[in-house]
Amino acid sequence: MYIIGMNSSEIRKKFLQFFAKNGHTIVPSSSLIPDDPSVLLTTAGVQQFKPYYTGEANPMTAIHPNFGKPFGSKNVVSVQKCFRTSDIDEVGDDTHLTFFEMLGNFSFGGYFKEEAIRLAYEFITKEMNLKISYVTIFEGLDSIGVPEDKESQEIWKKLDPSIKIRKEEIEDVFWGPTGNSGPCGPTTEIYCTNANGQDVEIWNLVFNEFFFPGSREELLSGTSGKRLEKLKTPGVDTGAGLERLVMIAHNKKNIFETDLFAPLMHALPTLHGGWSARIASDHARGIVFLIGDGVMPSNKNHGYIVRRLIRRVIPHLKLQSLAIIQEGFAPPGHSTIKDLVEKVIEYYGRLDMYPYLLDKKQEIVRVIGEEQERFFNVYNKGNNILTKLINEAKDNQTFLIAGIDIFRLVTTYGFALEWIKDKAKLTGVDLDLSGFEREFKKHQEISRAGQEKKFGGHGLLLDTGELKAADEEELKIVTRLHTATHLLQAALRKVLGPEVTQEGSDITAERTRFDFTFSRKLTPEEIRKVEDFVNEAIRRDLRVEFQEMPYEEAIRTDALYFFKEKYPARVKVYSVRDPKTGEVFSREFCGGPHVTHTAEIGRFHITKEESSSAGVRRIRGKIV
Ligand code: SER
Repeated sequence: MYIIGMNSSEIRKKFLQFFAKNGHTIVPSSSLIPDDPSVLLTTAGVQQFKPYYTGEANPMTAIHPNFGKPFGSKNVVSVQKCFRTSDIDEVGDDTHLTFFEMLGNFSFGGYFKEEAIRLAYEFITKEMNLKISYVTIFEGLDSIGVPEDKESQEIWKKLDPSIKIRKEEIEDVFWGPTGNSGPCGPTTEIYCTNANGQDVEIWNLVFNEFFFPGSREELLSGTSGKRLEKLKTPGVDTGAGLERLVMIAHNKKNIFETDLFAPLMHALPTLHGGWSARIASDHARGIVFLIGDGVMPSNKNHGYIVRRLIRRVIPHLKLQSLAIIQEGFAPPGHSTIKDLVEKVIEYYGRLDMYPYLLDKKQEIVRVIGEEQERFFNVYNKGNNILTKLINEAKDNQTFLIAGIDIFRLVTTYGFALEWIKDKAKLTGVDLDLSGFEREFKKHQEISRAGQEKKFGGHGLLLDTGELKAADEEELKIVTRLHTATHLLQAALRKVLGPEVTQEGSDITAERTRFDFTFSRKLTPEEIRKVEDFVNEAIRRDLRVEFQEMPYEEAIRTDALYFFKEKYPARVKVYSVRDPKTGEVFSREFCGGPHVTHTAEIGRFHITKEESSSAGVRRIRGKIV
């Protein structure tokens, strides 16, 4: 029995109820794929609330896309699905995960430090009956003009005169901004001790006092020339990892011993001290939730993350079955990737929060099965090569695998870099990862030069690879279709969701062809809505304009761009804007050419919608 007699579901509920009782509106989790195109994934609960801190959205009147109505309160609470690729190399230790659930309360001008700290203190010590080991506060930093957070220190002391307080630096206790700009501020963190005697951060309370018009890297570098601005209304953003909180509440040694992981860990042998099982369990959850939010395995963006997770789990499971067969390893269980993901779906799908997982069960299992098939086509060959490389590295006493060999395993055999790292660790060899990076860059440059050569000799007036026109007449039509294609992408994201990303496009004088990630056929109703959105933008005769700027700056404009594409140092960002209201319909990295006013396009019509490859749809459209 648990010390506090609450399982993880009850803890989730208790958190929501406690804050609801204290004047917070319960808001459901947003998708793992954020609306903000400058960030790839949702890594914190605060992301869906970003506009409320800057005053861009009013919690009393703005209709929140995920909630369907205004919050009707300046205070909200959520349990947010999060995914952090930044922690992927740590997975397998006692406290890190890629996918996790974040409990958080937020206030946009409703309350500030005093109330936020009091509520957190009350929840941890009274509702959960846990002991706080220590808390941290920001020690201040002159170069950004933020003093030590004495206020938080005083508040803690008033609540508990014996509480231990540690002062920490900007890297640890100053949050944000996320993406290319946003709210940010000092934090105070709560640490508790687990059954291993480790102090673990379980709750981070952020006081959003500032707005920074650049990225976190720029803020930390201090060389961007940009300054922190005071937010008109300071706000609160807190986040507590559910898995860690449950670990503390149940007095466990690590997060994998909690009831959240029990169905998975029981199905796997504890090979290599459970490390292999921990990675497989973490990734199985990540795979299910990402595919559940519409991501399909691919070589780009979110799709590439899922592909790598799947292609790391499969070899781990193979390793486990081999150990069972060869070494007579006594297994608590023995699972395939299908068994594991089904367990995740069954467990989370039966909770109140994620019933959609049960509805999507067949689809999720099918997508993973197909990806497994693709991987199996190359796996044996790749695995033989990897084994040979490891043996050679040992024979020749270098104990090092060269960058070019890693590169070939990743590109030709579709191996996940993370699995190559795991295998190296298990067999005691090193990887030349900087050599691997160099190979990667060299390859990108060669393929770009090849592209230019290929399109040089066509005898076409315009041939960018994406746009093709033989003469002036065709160039005009292609230019109109090109702007229509930008509107089409914006329309698809609007109607189908931000998981839509461009996979490719090809525009001739006859038609535009646009490929994008999406897992199913569009309904006639959706196709009509997409057409309507494009034609409405044309009818409003919006202005099309571009700005040329350094790549780094362009990333911060919220423009859509290919995550993995290599861009030159200066890029053009094209926007389609309503000159009267300033509303932006579309913004993309692009070389042009485009029309200057959308009315020049004419009328846009979708002629065909079909599958292009796994998880990728293809639309053809023309203008009349
Ligand atoms: N945004 C902060 C974090 O992720 C608090 O929610 O830690």
